Amino acid sequence: MYYARGRGGTEAFFCPSVSVCELSIMANMKQIAKLAGVSLGTVSHVLNGTARVREPLRKRVLEVVQASGYQPSQLARGLRRDKTNMIAMIIPDIMNPFFPSVVRGAEDLAFANGYRMILCNTDNDHAKEIVQLQSLRSYFPAGLIVISSNFSDLTAQAKSYRENGAAVVCIDRLPPNWDGDTVTIDNVDGARKATRFLIEQGHKAIAMIAGPQLLTNAQDRLEGYRRAMQEAGLLILPGLVQEASFDHAGGYTKTKMLLRLLPRPTAIFASNDMIAMGALRAIREAGLRCPEDISLIGFDGLDLTEMITPQLTSVYQSPYQLGATAARIVLDRVVDRESSPRHVVLGTELRIRESVARPPACAANRPSR
Ligand code: RIB
Repeated sequence: MYYARGRGGTEAFFCPSVSVCELSIMANMKQIAKLAGVSLGTVSHVLNGTARVREPLRKRVLEVVQASGYQPSQLARGLRRDKTNMIAMIIPDIMNPFFPSVVRGAEDLAFANGYRMILCNTDNDHAKEIVQLQSLRSYFPAGLIVISSNFSDLTAQAKSYRENGAAVVCIDRLPPNWDGDTVTIDNVDGARKATRFLIEQGHKAIAMIAGPQLLTNAQDRLEGYRRAMQEAGLLILPGLVQEASFDHAGGYTKTKMLLRLLPRPTAIFASNDMIAMGALRAIREAGLRCPEDISLIGFDGLDLTEMITPQLTSVYQSPYQLGATAARIVLDRVVDRESSPRHVVLGTELRIRESVARPPACAANRPSR
């Protein structure tokens, strides 16, 4: 006698000639349908996420699946339909705490809907990115969520995945001429808010360490800074804008250069928090204090920037929501391939902490060490 939880509680079913272990292996979708009292199609929709199923039915199917130990072979399924229940995700830099949070958002949603994630980190290396994309094909993912690396044009690869039936969503920074689904942040608005806040505190010589200008989000953040400066009638003096990689090292090197400028900027807007943390180190090494001598704003609002001294003022964006929204679009696309591309733009919020103060009375002409 074996047991499965059914509509009215636990139901017994008799299977005279097989052991529990054999039953687990043998259980197939037809048996699941029979035990759950639903059609084969309903079981298939629940397991494959191909259509919405009413919650009580979905729950019942999943309970029977669990009780019987049914394990669909992803390999067989992939070969049969050219698709598995996997969503592949490409991220550029797993060492930057922003990206694991994006993955978490995507994974939570995928998991709750019966999908599993394959994660590929490219280390911002375009060659590695291409190898990852090519080899991922053999896993037959149902969807692909892409955050491209610093120097990449993934459009051709992304389009070819889409033509082969995978749902592709490009997020955060977009490859050129990508015409499919996207999830991005309102980077122009976020950068404008940050720069305006510095201006409101009385800063005029505001430097920006912009991210890599091949990336759409870095371009938009620079645009937001320029707009705010222009709206306030402030000149962007030569040398005030420096381009850096989106990391600690980039922020450190470019801040050292900025601190040698005369007049020295009284504030720095960093295009992400990792750049800001590198900047903070360079400020300290130059014998300066943040925010007393120089103010600093980052972008991302990473949790860890609340744990440093001074706590970093930053433009918060939700990496979790970015990932979860992308996964939602993938799941919707599995059911509806034809609707026009979706472009979701998420908002930002300026989180004011401790790294911004009014400019010091005569700091601008004091050389740094
Ligand atoms: O910190 C990583 C940065 O690169 C973020 O600002 C995000 O938008 C990404 O593209």
